Amino acid sequence: MSKDAFTLTRPDGKSMSLPVLKGTIGPDVIDIGQLYKDQGVFTFDPGFVATGSCKSDITFIDGDEGVLLYRGYPVEQLAKHSSFIEVAYLLLYGDLPDKDQLAAFDTSIRRHTMLNEGMLRFFNGFRYDAHPMAMLSAVVGSMSAYYHDTMNVNDTAQHDIFTHRILAKLPTIAAAAYKLTAGQPFIYPRNDLNYTENMLHMFFAVPAEPYEINSIAAQALDLLFILHADHEQNCSTSTVRMAGSSGANPYSAIAAGIAALWGPAHGGANEAVLRMLEQIGDAKNIPKFVARAKDKSDPFRLMGFGHRVYKNFDPRATIIREMCHKVLAQMGRTDTPLLDLAIKLEEFALKDEYFIEKDLYPNVDFYSGIIYKALGIPTSMFTVMFAIGRTVGWVAHWREMITDPAARISRPRQLYTGPKNRDYVALEKR
Ligand code: ACO
Repeated sequence: MSKDAFTLTRPDGKSMSLPVLKGTIGPDVIDIGQLYKDQGVFTFDPGFVATGSCKSDITFIDGDEGVLLYRGYPVEQLAKHSSFIEVAYLLLYGDLPDKDQLAAFDTSIRRHTMLNEGMLRFFNGFRYDAHPMAMLSAVVGSMSAYYHDTMNVNDTAQHDIFTHRILAKLPTIAAAAYKLTAGQPFIYPRNDLNYTENMLHMFFAVPAEPYEINSIAAQALDLLFILHADHEQNCSTSTVRMAGSSGANPYSAIAAGIAALWGPAHGGANEAVLRMLEQIGDAKNIPKFVARAKDKSDPFRLMGFGHRVYKNFDPRATIIREMCHKVLAQMGRTDTPLLDLAIKLEEFALKDEYFIEKDLYPNVDFYSGIIYKALGIPTSMFTVMFAIGRTVGWVAHWREMITDPAARISRPRQLYTGPKNRDYVALEKR
């Protein structure tokens, strides 16, 4: 392999030179765009284990070193010094805002929190026991039926209105879904409150008595949203890019991302972790469950463990683990059975040969559910919380994709393994 080209040699000895592209950091990428045209072959990479699907300036991950950068800034620094709204601005516009830019952005998000009243009536159609992720995906998809002024994907002025609108309204939609499951009346947003305070207000206030916002809970949510804000070309983000690549309206693309996030191998893991911890119940059962996770004939996996990219540690999990202790202590929770069980499970698994050999570490979802539970958020809402944090990442990627002059419709190829050409057989002869 030369410095800037990769030579591919065929079995018959003929070779082809493939350009090697270099990013600012991270592994080089072999450009195979001309491969089929020149050689008549496709590449095969199910699950995109070694395939870069696009160029992106937004987020960088080094899975071996446990590094996560948003627009170049380490997530640890942002978690310590920034706010979710500031991080949202950074991801969307590329740089940290100055004071005026931050104030204008914050004000705009606060002023777009209300939903069209027609959209609220949409919730009446759901059964009382509908999963909130099903409602979230459906109602976000339905935004394209209400906000026609932001549907033209070629008008960049509309991108900003769409962006502010969806960021502002997602917590309101989530709260409406929660209130339906709780059997309580919908609570309108309060624009004098910040992003996470307003969310807590919409979730937990009731008309019958005053509600006092817990500032520790609001700060904890803000930090969790920072940690979930973006993660480069993960399953849901790639889904948003793929749906959007056809020119579909942005609300539909985000609704597709929400649907992809729901799966237990992705964002649905935070809900699955809590259910798993409850199922394990006691530290004495840990060896039995770890043995099940290692047994290939058993579909059970240790939820919240393992990651496609992180093969050392997930930096977000380290921050959340630390935060778990703080939040529970600050909220006066001394009896923390789930956290204690999670710590023991982590200790046990990290010493196990199977987990060591396969580089399986706790991921972002292993501890987040314990915090959500401590804040009073029901288990079925955990993935919704993830979606609220991740929406800004989806939107940033959608904007990058839709304004990239080189972007084309996403259309992978395949290795066909079905029957060869055969003739139709009349029904009476089959
Ligand atoms: N428990 C037990 N074994 C596991 C686990 C686990 N949690 N995760 C991976 N493995 C094993 C697999 O069985 C496989 O073994 P093999 O090589 O003997 O076949 C090996 O480790 C590699 O796992 P893959 O599934 O091939 O890895 P992949 O990169 O495709 O999947 C994933 C990553 C989906 C995260 C996987 O680790 C998993 O299912 N984890 C549990 C669910 C979870 O926590 N998801 C949240 C991910 S973070 C996020 O999306 C926000």
